[in-house]
Amino acid sequence: EKGGYEHFMQKEMYEQPKAVTDTLNPRLKGSRIEIEELGMTDEEIRAVRKIFIVACGSAYHTGVTAKYVFEGLARIPVEVDLASEFRYRDPILEEGTLVIIVSQSGETADSLAALREAKARGCRVLGIVNVVGSSIAREADNVMYTWAGPEIAVATTKAYSTQLIAEYLLALKFAHVRGRINDEELAGYIRDLQLLPQQIEMLLNNKEKIQKFANRYIAAKDVFFIGRGIDYAISLEGSLKLKEISYIHSEAYAAGELKHGTISLIEEGTLVAAVLTQEDLYKKMISNMVEVKTRGAFILAVTNADNVEVEKSADYVIYIPKNNKYFTNSLAVIPLQLFGYYVAIGKGCDVDKPRNLAKSVTVE
Ligand code: F6R
Repeated sequence: EKGGYEHFMQKEMYEQPKAVTDTLNPRLKGSRIEIEELGMTDEEIRAVRKIFIVACGSAYHTGVTAKYVFEGLARIPVEVDLASEFRYRDPILEEGTLVIIVSQSGETADSLAALREAKARGCRVLGIVNVVGSSIAREADNVMYTWAGPEIAVATTKAYSTQLIAEYLLALKFAHVRGRINDEELAGYIRDLQLLPQQIEMLLNNKEKIQKFANRYIAAKDVFFIGRGIDYAISLEGSLKLKEISYIHSEAYAAGELKHGTISLIEEGTLVAAVLTQEDLYKKMISNMVEVKTRGAFILAVTNADNVEVEKSADYVIYIPKNNKYFTNSLAVIPLQLFGYYVAIGKGCDVDKPRNLAKSVTVE
C-alpha cells in the first residue's frame, strides 16, 4: 500500500506533483480561471470587503501564505485566524465578509466550530477541503476540493501543497474579476502555476543533498527558521514539519523579530534555516543572516536559483527554481519537508505516526 516507499510521508511527498496538477487543472480554462463550485457571481466577488481564513496547524500556515497573495494581488484585506481562537473571540464579522475554512480532513473540531460560528453570524463560508463529503465540506455554503487524494501520514505534505494551489487560484480569480490584474497578467500567472509540478519534481529528485545535510543535525537541540513576508509563512511550516516528526525543538520567526529576543538563543553551531525568495527583501534577510552568523549560527539558506550572492553569508545553500514571487512557498516547502523527514528518519522516529498526535483532531 506504500507503493514501494518506506513511509506514507515519503510516498505523499512524491505524490505532490500529481496532487498539484489535479487541483490546478480542473480550474483552468485556457488562460482563464473558472471555479464553478465557488458559486459566486462576479458581482458577489466584487462585493467582498474582507476575508477571514480560519484553520488549524499546517492548514493555518497556508492561510498565512494566502494572506500575502490575496492582499498583494487582489488588494482585499485578509485576516488569518486559528480556528480555536476565532471561535471564542467574538470576531467582528461585518457585511461583505467571506470566511474561508481550510482543512484536509474536514473534521477538525475547532475548524468545524468556527465554520458554524461564521454561518450563524450570517457570513458566507467557503470550505477548502480534501476529504469529500466530510463535515466541513457538507456544512460550508460552498466547497472547493483539493484533489490530493487520501493522506495517511500524520504530518501533512501533499494536502498542504494543494491547499496553497486552491488559495492561489482564488486570489487570482478575485484579482482578475476586481480589475486588479488584466487578461494578459492572469495568463502569465497561470503559466507560472503550470510550471510548479515539474519544479516540485525537480526538488524532490534532489533529495540526496538534503538527506546528507539532515544527517548532520539529528542531534540538534534547537533549530530556528527565519524569513520575511511570504517566506515567514513557509518558515512556520518548515518549523512544524521538523518538530512534529523529529521532536527537535524548533521555532519560526519573522527575521526582523530576531533582535527582539530570539537572538539570545543563538549559540555556537545552532542551525538557522533562512528562507529568502523575495528579491525586494534579499538585502534585509542577508543582514539578519549575518547577525546570527556572528553569534555562531550555522546557516542553511533556501533561495532562488539566481541568488548566488547568498553563498557569501550562508554555510549551505539549497536553490529553488525561479517562479513568480507569489508562488515560491510551493517550492521552498519541498526541501523543508525533506529536511524534517530525513532528520526524523535519522533519529529513528516513527515518521508516519509521531507520538501524541492524531491525523484528524475531532475533539477540541
Ligand atoms: C501538521 C498537520 C496538522 C494539521 C491540522 C489541521 O503536519 O497535519 O497541523 O494541518 O491538524 O488538520 P486539518 O487540515 O485536517 O483540519
